[in-house]
Amino acid sequence: MCGIVGYIGSDLACERLIEGLRRLEYRGYDSAGVALIDPQGDLWARKRVGRVAELDDAVFDAPEAQIGIAHTRWATHGGITEPNAHPHLDATRQIAVVHNGIIENMHALRQQLESEGVHFRSETDTEVLPHLIRKFYRGDPVAAVRATLRLVRGTYGIAVLFADHPDRIVAARLGSPLVVGLGEGETVLASDPQAIIELTRRVVYLDDREIAVISRDGVKVERLDGRTRDADITLIDDEAYGVADLQGFPHFMLKEIHEQPESIQRCLRGRIQGEEGNAKLGGFQMDPRALVRIERVIALGCGTSYHAGMVGAMALESLARVPARAEVASEFRYRNPIIPRDALFLAVSQSGETMDTLGAVQEVLVKGGHVAGVVNVVGSTIARTTGKGVYVHSGPEIAVASTKAFTSQVTALMVFTLMVARTRNLSLDAGRQMARALEELPAKVHAYLRDPGPIQVAVEAVTEAPYVLFLGRGFSYPVALEGALKLKEIAYIPCEAYPSGEMKHGPIAMIDQGAPVLFLAPADQHRDKNISNLKEVQARGARLIVVHTEGDDELAELADLSIPVPAVPDYLSPLITVLPLQLLAYHAGLALGRDVDKPRNLAKSVTVE
Ligand code: F6R
Repeated sequence: MCGIVGYIGSDLACERLIEGLRRLEYRGYDSAGVALIDPQGDLWARKRVGRVAELDDAVFDAPEAQIGIAHTRWATHGGITEPNAHPHLDATRQIAVVHNGIIENMHALRQQLESEGVHFRSETDTEVLPHLIRKFYRGDPVAAVRATLRLVRGTYGIAVLFADHPDRIVAARLGSPLVVGLGEGETVLASDPQAIIELTRRVVYLDDREIAVISRDGVKVERLDGRTRDADITLIDDEAYGVADLQGFPHFMLKEIHEQPESIQRCLRGRIQGEEGNAKLGGFQMDPRALVRIERVIALGCGTSYHAGMVGAMALESLARVPARAEVASEFRYRNPIIPRDALFLAVSQSGETMDTLGAVQEVLVKGGHVAGVVNVVGSTIARTTGKGVYVHSGPEIAVASTKAFTSQVTALMVFTLMVARTRNLSLDAGRQMARALEELPAKVHAYLRDPGPIQVAVEAVTEAPYVLFLGRGFSYPVALEGALKLKEIAYIPCEAYPSGEMKHGPIAMIDQGAPVLFLAPADQHRDKNISNLKEVQARGARLIVVHTEGDDELAELADLSIPVPAVPDYLSPLITVLPLQLLAYHAGLALGRDVDKPRNLAKSVTVE
């Protein structure tokens, strides 16, 4: 979603800002812009609809400025047009603002400003900010920003330039992340550490209701209510943010699919205690006596992370015998949920910035509940808000569609399940078996990816079809949901997922001659039931693409197209059966000419509701 970059130092600011924007491209956006203060003390701005490359072409005549701010916009208020792109300037062209988030009371603020004679040039909510800052500006940038933000309802991460203060960028946040990177004689601001990692590992995260003054020598942070705070410096590690490089793959999505043996391995590293048949996740800050007091677990997440939460909840219930469920965070947060005292909530999020998941976390915390994060991005808002949990360590996920983060989230939830299960009725022997199965997983994922089966034939079947049905039971149902989500978002093929047993209560009406049905039927406790369901759709002419366990000849023969996967215990099957579905979505997207790394309308990190 929207991205912010700011730069002050001794280099050419425009080049550095464009570089930063490129590193944020993966988040999804539709227009981009930059504002600089030139050596004469004037504001210079340029915007373009489309890619950062187009903005780059358009800034050939940029002044030799050493300070500037830049933005990639993902449209919310107002269409995808140049006037709506950021930065937005006040009428005197003395103040420039870039903004992530949504100003909810923008209509009232705009009406008031218009009645005072202000002329608006865009349809955005953001444009009220430069006009309000101008209104309150008496020579003190921080005071003007502070006075403006007092009037604003909604969420924001902002960066502001004042033409008459070429020595500073003013930034503030509420609900939209901002991080400041400290270099030698230069300082960078960004909404995502990915934009600054090449400059420095030394960063200061802004918290909600904080305002920062960024100069080439560093950053000064204050609370919006005037209290000061020490700018604690955090060192971010390279593994979490490594350089976004295709390493020979044509797309990040394919690279990330193939990284899964290592990303799962990283998630397991140092956490499995094979001899004890147990695991250790120190970040939960829970010893066995605390674990045994958990009476239920509720996983909260959106999209793919919600699907990972569903798998985790099933594992906790079946292996640890703890009542567990997953909930869509955007529904949970607004229904005044009951927060039982003995429940542990798990906020599952790759980015750690998803507004709905963060909102759900805040609702749990307000009600005195107990919540831990299952997060990929180190230092992200959800990780810092929960203050405990597990980092899944999948490494940076650049493709918009989540692949390796899903398998790492599920792996982390399985490790947690092992820990909880050992405080209940999982025996030492069974614990050892589960620990071993987890340790063997990366090799099995690797074995499948080396020889993924007839994916291209499946691609032909789904790309020619008007509709695709995904079916699965038990642990395979969330995988069916995940497979359908991937195919929708990457290939834009209409599809849906159903529990296999539920299919005859409606979706079976969609099946006619040759309709592709993607059936997940690993050799688990549901295998025989699945065979009956499979025959039911086959009898109606469906073309069956079956993902099944290697060596299961009966299923291979029943299938029109058989995709064998390595054998694993039931609860680990999602980590294997999801792989062909990821590949199917990728190759189907490619066959249909889609932008597989940046599918239309989507954003990597959904920081608005
Ligand atoms: C799907 C996808 C989204 C995200 C969802 C949550 O491929 O990427 O459905 O899973 O937006 O994002 P995070 O995990 O960052 O909270």
